[in-house]
Parts: sequence; structure tokens; C-alpha cells
Amino acid sequence: MPPKAANAAVNHLRNKSRASISTACVVSTSSSTVESGLRIVGAHTDSPGFRIRPNGATVSDGLARLGVEIYGGPILATFTDRDLSLAGRISFLDDGKHLTHQLVRFNQPLLRLPNLAIHMNRGVNEDGLKLHKQNELPLLFAQLTAGQLPKPYFLELLAQASGIDATRILSWDLAVYDTQKGALWGANQEFYADSQIDNLASCHAALQALLNDAVLNSAESTLVCAFFDHEEIGSESHIGAGGSFLADVLQRINAAASTEREDSARALAHSFLISADMAHAYQPNFPAAYDADHRVFVNQGPVIKSNANRRYSSESVSIAHFIRWCEEAGVPHQRYTHRSDLPCGSTIGPIASAKLGIRSVDVGCPMWAMHSIRESAGVQDHDYMIRVLERFFSD
Ligand code: CO
Repeated sequence: MPPKAANAAVNHLRNKSRASISTACVVSTSSSTVESGLRIVGAHTDSPGFRIRPNGATVSDGLARLGVEIYGGPILATFTDRDLSLAGRISFLDDGKHLTHQLVRFNQPLLRLPNLAIHMNRGVNEDGLKLHKQNELPLLFAQLTAGQLPKPYFLELLAQASGIDATRILSWDLAVYDTQKGALWGANQEFYADSQIDNLASCHAALQALLNDAVLNSAESTLVCAFFDHEEIGSESHIGAGGSFLADVLQRINAAASTEREDSARALAHSFLISADMAHAYQPNFPAAYDADHRVFVNQGPVIKSNANRRYSSESVSIAHFIRWCEEAGVPHQRYTHRSDLPCGSTIGPIASAKLGIRSVDVGCPMWAMHSIRESAGVQDHDYMIRVLERFFSD
């Protein structure tokens, strides 16, 4: 049987809103923040994929399509032949002419990107599936009759899904999501698969650790889970890790504990950030993609990520702290660096750490197929991550 926490994670991933347009802080405050500082776990809520263009609905030969922009760096080919749908946020005027915002989700499969048959794309298995980003990504969503116009037709669909009169809708942000539920897989159900594991799995692990009663009762520090939007596009937004959101929240927490400016600086100096984001697990079909000495494996524990050019925030002191928390929690750990001939990804770690002036380490559970619409990872690792974050929060 998989650990309970992993089941909870899968359920969480099944039930998530999929809208991915949120930034949030969850905080447990302590009266001794000045001396013991803040224990922060940072992660991101967004995932790469498609966003619907404002005037995206078009029709040709009776087939209505939605034009999309690419958000971040998805593996485009994985979006073909999936049961896709839409989720996001609508802004509208309510009965009293107040500006109002509401989340919306189409629950049924609404969209599809059908592949070209192999008979018309004979080289697909030799050359790979290449999709033209402008011409070949619009998503099919309806078959219209001669008198039906695509834009009002789509607006009416939006009105039905949201319960908001079409004439009141002013604007929206809509993301494409995969309606297929998460699943455990493997001979012993030791793996799980879903969309958006990067990085909702880390968000879930952090929240599980923070909400543990034993952690809350024993913690001497102020505990913070900081979840950011826009990591996949560089974090530069008012709600991204490059914005002032987290610094503002921490400043207000510190101001509530003490009005002395010096106390706030002391609290920050005693603080620590764990930047939790997923890592690249070894896939034995592609051995050349990895540095041979830094392969990390699913179900063998959290990964500490290092990069000499500080694409990750880890350095020897923060790494040593994390290793100690792992050992105290009875959790194994692994070390990862990216191949030097491949560009390394990054996380919110270096950005948030630099903005706050707080020491940080970049860690994450190993996973396969990062940025595919169907990612997978190890069940045991999720439990390991929760346990080491609980230890961190209790320190
Ligand atoms: Co990520």
C-alpha cells in the first residue's frame, strides 16, 4: 500500500482547480519570531501549457477553433489527442454594476488537438512530432452551422459554464487543462501520474507539513508556505516571486510582532527558505541526458539541487542544514547537478532568496517528463518530502 500522504496528494491533485492563477501565503505565527526567525517553504502554483487568446474563437469549414498562446515551456506534442478543457477566471459586472471576479471551470472535455494521421506524417517517428506554434496549435471545440458565429458562440459557452450573463462578461484568463484524473501506477502502485505535478506536489507537501498538529504545537519559529504564480515565465509579475508580495507579507508579520525596525532585520537574519520544486529523475531509456555522477532516482528521497551559476540557491551551508534535517527525519537525500552542455532550469529560490536576503536551499522530489501534460513521480518521495519539511518547520 502506498503511504497515506501520497494518497492524499493524488486526491489533492485530482481535486485542484487547475486554473493555476494564484499566489498565496499560509502562515503560522510565533511570538518569538525575532529570535527564532521565519521558516519558509516556497513553491510555485503555475504550470506550462496553453492560454486562450482574447479573440481566439474562429471558424473555418464549420469547425470552430480556439487560438492559444503558449505559457512557459510545455512539451507541445504531449497536448495532442488529450481530453482537454478550460479553467480560469472571469471578470464581470454584477447586478449592482460592481466589478466582480469569479473562478470558472468547464468540467467536461471541451477541446482537442487531434494529431495528423501517420499516413499524412510518415516521418513522425523518425523526426519527432513538431507543431508550428502559430498555425498548428489552435484547439478544436465545436462544429458550427452556417449561421453561427464563433466568438458569440464561445462567449455563450463561457456564460453557461460560469452562470454569468454573456453581456456582463468583460474579460477572462483561461488556461487549458487535461481532464484525465491522477492515477497510481506500477506493479506495486509505487508511482503516480497526473498533470501539474511540477509543482503542485511541492505545494501539497509544504501544506501537509505546515498543517501537522504536532508541528504547529512544537514550532518556535513563524512558519510560512509561500506559493507563487508565474514561475514558469520568469517570476517577474506583481504576484510572482520577483514581486514584492512575500517581502510585504513578512514585513507585516514582523511589524505585528514588534514595531522596532531592528527586530524585523533580526528576524529575517534568523530565517531560512526552502525552495521546493521538482527535480529530474533518471529515465533509463535516455542515459545520455544526465550527468553520470548526479543521477537521481524516484522513491530514493528528496533531491538537493546545485548550480555553480546560482540557477539554484543552494550553497554549502544551506545544503548542510537540509542534510541534517533529512537525517533527523530518517529521510534519504540525493544530489543533483545538470549536464554542463544543457541549459539548466531555475526556480523561485534564487529570486526570493535574493529579494529577502535569506539563506536558501533548492530541493525537490524527482519526477519524470517535467512539463509534459502527463507527468509522473514516485509515491514514496512525496512522503519523504513531507517528513523533512515537518522536521524543518519544527527546528
Ligand atoms: Co517547477
